[in-house]
Amino acid sequence: MTALRGEFRSRLGFIFAAAGSAVGLGNIWGFPTQAASNGGAAFLITYLVLAFLLAYPALMAELLIGRHTHRNMVMALGSLSDDPRTQRAGQLTGVLGLLTASLILSFYAIVAGWMLGYGASYPLGAMGSESTENWLNTFAASRNLTLMLIFMALTMAVVLGGVEKGIERWSRRLMPLLLITLVALALYVLTLEGATTGLAVYLLPDFSKVLSSDFLIDALGSAFFSLSLGVGTMLIYGSYLSDTEHVPTVGAQVALMDIGIAILAGFLILPAMYVADARGVAIFNEAGGLLSEDTLIFSVMPALFATLDTSGTWLATAFFMLMSIAALTSSISMLEVPVAYLIERHGLTRASATTWAGGIIATFSGLIVLNFDTLFGLVVTISTRYSQPLLGIAVCVFAGWVWRRDALLSELQKADASAEHSLFWQVWPIYVRWICPVIISVILLQSLV
Ligand code: PHE
Repeated sequence: MTALRGEFRSRLGFIFAAAGSAVGLGNIWGFPTQAASNGGAAFLITYLVLAFLLAYPALMAELLIGRHTHRNMVMALGSLSDDPRTQRAGQLTGVLGLLTASLILSFYAIVAGWMLGYGASYPLGAMGSESTENWLNTFAASRNLTLMLIFMALTMAVVLGGVEKGIERWSRRLMPLLLITLVALALYVLTLEGATTGLAVYLLPDFSKVLSSDFLIDALGSAFFSLSLGVGTMLIYGSYLSDTEHVPTVGAQVALMDIGIAILAGFLILPAMYVADARGVAIFNEAGGLLSEDTLIFSVMPALFATLDTSGTWLATAFFMLMSIAALTSSISMLEVPVAYLIERHGLTRASATTWAGGIIATFSGLIVLNFDTLFGLVVTISTRYSQPLLGIAVCVFAGWVWRRDALLSELQKADASAEHSLFWQVWPIYVRWICPVIISVILLQSLV
């Protein structure tokens, strides 16, 4: 069975691919802007606590179930128990995960298309094609549709290559590039006037914000979104992981890389905002709060780049390239979820599975573009704020309650003969059984009432 499936060729390949899925617009855009408007370091600390206490154990649940079953989410969750009803519940959860992954991709591709567009507009503008530059930078259905389709085509092209020649190969190329670009941009911005004010906002906690009711659900949603949880992406990547790898260790490396890059992005975005402020760009609204999140990336950053002349063109191109790369290594993991399902459950070839899944998602994405005001926010909220944490609870329940403990132990023993005596084995099974579902439910309920 496993011989027919793809497998990551190396540990590093897996880590880059899984971290590539995790590191996306959520890290470089979402996390820093949320930290900026939610008390800086106070948000950072809450996020770190939630990431380690809730998201890492949930990540382990997905990776372990994936590696154990070597199957897509639907078949994996459906095979953990012998009881037909529990099997059906597992399959249903898997299908919901697959739908949520597709929904996320349908809005993600639109935003990622904007990143591509902005990234291309700067060099084109510098070369004198002003009308193309304007078209790429101006919100309109035709532009949104075209760029979304280009981004979906890129995503499909990578997924078409399969696990090793598509996902692993491109993640290994793109992730180092992303890291270098991010560090270089942050170092440059930190030398500009005003940057230290941004640093202070980022690093000095304002705990008064932590008490607001939406704060925890935001930080939780952020942590789940950032680690790509609940929707089967980590499960499917885990299913392509070789049996000789020690899952708790590689999982921790992926989580650390994701959190590290989010924190690093804060060192770019917050200082950049205050550099912009020092140069007369408006970053606060009339009430004295920070401008909303979308304004930040698509108006504050471009306004900042505009004050920097030629170096601004370079900086802008690098910045939007960074965003596009981050988006692409994430979007391929989203598309792989339905593609793997179609291949394994319905016997499609990778080429037709990619065409069908990509085609349907792009069509839905087109619908969102054409009804942007009604659909965009709705799809984002349903998929990331509610569906992801709910599915996260479900996966923890499957790992903690449905999966037999001896099967789990033998899974851990594949790469660690003394797993029975490890700290992980002492803590994690009880943890995913009780603590994760309870705390996630409490936070979710609190946000509803
Ligand atoms: N983790 C990605 C990000 O931070 C988003 C994502 C969500 C990717 C769900 C895959 C699945 O942008």
